[in-house]
Amino acid sequence: MNYPSQIRSWEQYQSAYHKSVEDPEGFWAGIADEFNWHRKWDKVLDWNFSEPGVKWFSGARLNITENCLDRHLAAEGDRPAIIWEPNDPSEDSRVLTYKELHAKVCQFAHVLKNNGVRKGDRICIYMPMVPELAIAVLACARLGAIHSVVFGGFSAQSIADRIQDAQCSLVITADGAYRGNKEIPLKAVIDDALVHCPSVGKVIVLSRTRVPISMIKGRDTWWEEETRKVEAQGNPPCPAESMDAEDMLFILYTSGSTGKPKGVVHTCAGYMVYTNYSFVNVFQYRPGEIYFCTADIGWITGHSYIVYGPLSAGATSVRFEGIPTWPDAGRFWDLVDKHKVNILYTAPTAIRSLIGFGLDPVSNKDLSSLRVLGTVGEPINEEAWHWYDEHIGKGRCPIVDTWWQTETGGILISNMAGVTPAKPSYATLPLPGVQPLLVDERGEEITGNGVSGNLCIKFPWPSIIRTTYGDHDRCRQTYFATYKNLYFTGDGALRDEKGNYRITGRVDDVLNVSGHRIGTAEVENAINMHTGVVESAVVGYPHDIKGQGIYAFVIFSGNRSDADGIRKAIAATVTRIIGAIARPDKIQLVGGLPKTRSGKIMRRILRKIAEGETQNLGDTTTLLDPAVVEEIKKGKL
Ligand code: PRX
Repeated sequence: MNYPSQIRSWEQYQSAYHKSVEDPEGFWAGIADEFNWHRKWDKVLDWNFSEPGVKWFSGARLNITENCLDRHLAAEGDRPAIIWEPNDPSEDSRVLTYKELHAKVCQFAHVLKNNGVRKGDRICIYMPMVPELAIAVLACARLGAIHSVVFGGFSAQSIADRIQDAQCSLVITADGAYRGNKEIPLKAVIDDALVHCPSVGKVIVLSRTRVPISMIKGRDTWWEEETRKVEAQGNPPCPAESMDAEDMLFILYTSGSTGKPKGVVHTCAGYMVYTNYSFVNVFQYRPGEIYFCTADIGWITGHSYIVYGPLSAGATSVRFEGIPTWPDAGRFWDLVDKHKVNILYTAPTAIRSLIGFGLDPVSNKDLSSLRVLGTVGEPINEEAWHWYDEHIGKGRCPIVDTWWQTETGGILISNMAGVTPAKPSYATLPLPGVQPLLVDERGEEITGNGVSGNLCIKFPWPSIIRTTYGDHDRCRQTYFATYKNLYFTGDGALRDEKGNYRITGRVDDVLNVSGHRIGTAEVENAINMHTGVVESAVVGYPHDIKGQGIYAFVIFSGNRSDADGIRKAIAATVTRIIGAIARPDKIQLVGGLPKTRSGKIMRRILRKIAEGETQNLGDTTTLLDPAVVEEIKKGKL
């Protein structure tokens, strides 16, 4: 495959950027022309940010899986699409060529059809990072069923919430998952979740860990048995469903500052065009290169830059089932060495945790195949950036710091490897088609350089969020109502003298723990479900490895003599309600919380205390009971 819209120089970047602003429709139509369509669009873009209503490529028809699979078959069918590396290094890796992946996707699409799945049905996928996860995702897209992938670390309650919200009719899971030296009982978690999910009529179970699990008659069936049935039918071809450009492709749940996680909806055409365009440009992918993104498909990074972006570009990618520190902290570097990885895309939190193991795990590995490094998910501190540059890139690999969100579908602000300049801890410049701006509290644009403010985008790009599933007004309220006619990201940023953006972190009540987004309200709701808890307030604090840690202040009514036991029990409740990723790092039992006279918790003060600041807490005169603050300061963990 060649990439006609790949930008190769600084001058080309500037001219592409200019064109994308002057003539966005012409710009994106030119790029969209590179794909296979059943029918071309009537209009490139229709939009308003007030409802919001955004439509890209109206009237066009396509199937994204034909662009990710079928169109590569003739010339590159034997090229590896997936190189899969298991959790346990003594187990063999697996390679699936484009031909093989295509065949497996078609076969599994038949399995889904045989189990009653039709276009528009919602399918929940809760699986380990095995090739079958990508197969399941693509098989849904082949039929026009809407996938909702839930990360394997979420609890039964979190899965149930997501299944109920989307009214999923079928679940695809596995008996269990391996992560490091742990086995996670996925099917048992699903069984617990499904007690509350009457919409689910079928569960398809892949065998991975082969632990004994319960299989409910009439509801549960094995992946392997179902695929054998399709084999017995002679593996018939599976024509792809013709989808409207704006038909839903998937739902992915993410946390916000209020309420339960919301289902971010992406649609077929714009998402395909943008993930492909950003993939080939940011990483400067060259045909035949080996690309390795260490994320899990359960997050947006996995959707856009493990599944759809790389496959639509005919790329070869490594997918890894395990964790960076097992069996030892050299595992990523073993994989780079073993598979001769050219492009490595990972999270700052992984880099920081590996720095802690020193250079021994890196020193005897051949990393000479690396050409480009990337980071995603959270701000990267300069120390981690330089370590990555020096010890992994050996000073010769550009690092792309990619800023984006579940809602943006693809990378919006990033340097392009070797084409536009990098600057440590800066995401740098917007991609063509992306028009960022900074605003102050009142929504006034802050112009000029050397300034900071709240980051907004003023014009739609093709993979912008279309709605929050089942609640369009929530989408409007959350992203389009804070500032008129702007998409608000929830992030703060500064712009340096040259116009480079540095993302400084969330300005709302959303935490970023190890690159995972967690709403403080969500954690508080979980803590408040624990018996004896009267009220709680959760804030983030700087954490060396996780970026942010979770600090919970909890008013507990019962006997507090065994404070340690209470803290452990509260943490267990959070793990049960949300999942281990939301487990507080610190829980402080307090007698009261600092509140204003109108009853609002003053998080600003709690944040300062959690950060270790005890002197300059700012104005506390509006507090109902200032003595509470003194008590909390004394008991600080
Ligand atoms: O705060 C920003 C941070 O992650 C948030 C989005 O989280 P999520 O939807 O889970 O997607 C993560 C993967 C794209 C953003 O609002 N974030 C993401 N990338 C960066 C970042 N912060 C700083 N620098 C980045 N490169």
